[in-house]
Amino acid sequence: MKIMCTVGTRPEAIKMAPVILALKQQPWAEVRVLATAQHRHMLDQVMTFFGIVPDIDLNIMKPNQTLTELTARLLLELDKVLLEEKPDVVLAQGDTTTVFAMALACFYRRIPFGHVEAGLRTWDMQNPFPEEANRVLAGRLTRWHFAPTESSKANLLREGIPDQDITVTGNTVIDALLMTAAKDLTLGIDLDDSKRLILVTSHRRENFGAPFREICRALKTLAESNSDVQILYPVHPNPNVKDVAYEVLGNTPNIILCEPLDYAPFIAAMKKAYLIISDSGGVQEEAPALGIPVLVLRDETERPEAVDMGVVKLVGPNHDPILKEAQTLLDNPAAYKAMARGVSPYGDGKGAERIVAVLKEYCV
Ligand code: UD1
Ligand code: UDP
Repeated sequence: MKIMCTVGTRPEAIKMAPVILALKQQPWAEVRVLATAQHRHMLDQVMTFFGIVPDIDLNIMKPNQTLTELTARLLLELDKVLLEEKPDVVLAQGDTTTVFAMALACFYRRIPFGHVEAGLRTWDMQNPFPEEANRVLAGRLTRWHFAPTESSKANLLREGIPDQDITVTGNTVIDALLMTAAKDLTLGIDLDDSKRLILVTSHRRENFGAPFREICRALKTLAESNSDVQILYPVHPNPNVKDVAYEVLGNTPNIILCEPLDYAPFIAAMKKAYLIISDSGGVQEEAPALGIPVLVLRDETERPEAVDMGVVKLVGPNHDPILKEAQTLLDNPAAYKAMARGVSPYGDGKGAERIVAVLKEYCV
């Protein structure tokens, strides 16, 4: 059975790597790895780390690509690949444009599609944009829904997806994290160890413009009013993020801006961090497992489990709440301790194993 595994962006590569590596161990599976390369450098960083070489690479990324152009080019290119390769099953992970385009291309070619990380919902099409639409639309076209948690399964049932098409697997981000965190990790950036580390990431499209400027202003104030703190911010290469981040934060002594970190050094940075401030989906899943509190730069999240457990807090892209919550965690040891509990609501490291078991039943 020919199984095509799709990757487009950094988080897809991280979350698909355990699935690809597990499928490659199966004698019944002929694995083909398709990289759309919606991301270029950030995708390659992860693929190299996990030792996975794409069989097909569409090299689709263009600087500052629009969603329409990206989707249109992807559909045409993916259709050609499906026609040539004739896979029996196609898998993709998450809610990027790559995933939506692949689910649609498979539907048109009547190839069964398996959705890894299925069922995440905010129920608000504008937040996150365009990811909520991507995952809802992909979900309508999916044969196997691999839901990370019971609550993501409940979301799918609410949309009328039949119970027998859904498997709760845990999120494969935890598989990747456990595979990596066990290694000897080095960050490779000189930090002042006398200062507490705040790690920051941010890239959401709905925050572009004024909200992202406000996030940056809050980080600047936080750094300026806490000389015992150091902020490390690996900046996403999207020009809407990068240009503003360097303009507003570039000259603050205790803020270090850097290129996106390779996956292993980024895990090392998370492990060193006192606090994480981020709008990343993956980081919201990884940090609780490492016992690091996260302030999320969004008003809503499709990952409510860690919020319900009290280890992740939504602060929105708003100056005052970001500052207030971060300052509380810096100043109040009890508040900090309450959030710094190691819990892993998103998985146990066996997500890929469960996905492979479902596919084996179909393929063998
Ligand atoms: C994409 C996904 C988002 C995901 C995020 C993970 C969509 C619409 N968005 O957002 O869901 O959470 O990836 O990071 O699918 N760029 C580079 N080098 C890279 C990667 C990106 O220069 O390695 C720049 C390019 O100018 C590119 C731009 O970033 O045009 C935007 O990339 P794109 O994939 O469209 O969106 P992201 O904002 O990265
Ligand atoms: N990550 C990384 N280097 C960085 C920042 C993040 O390797 O400099 C990893 C992080 O560990 C997580 C993933 O990238 O697994 C999250 O990707 P991103 O925030 O780009 O996308 P999202 O998860 O929001 O879709």
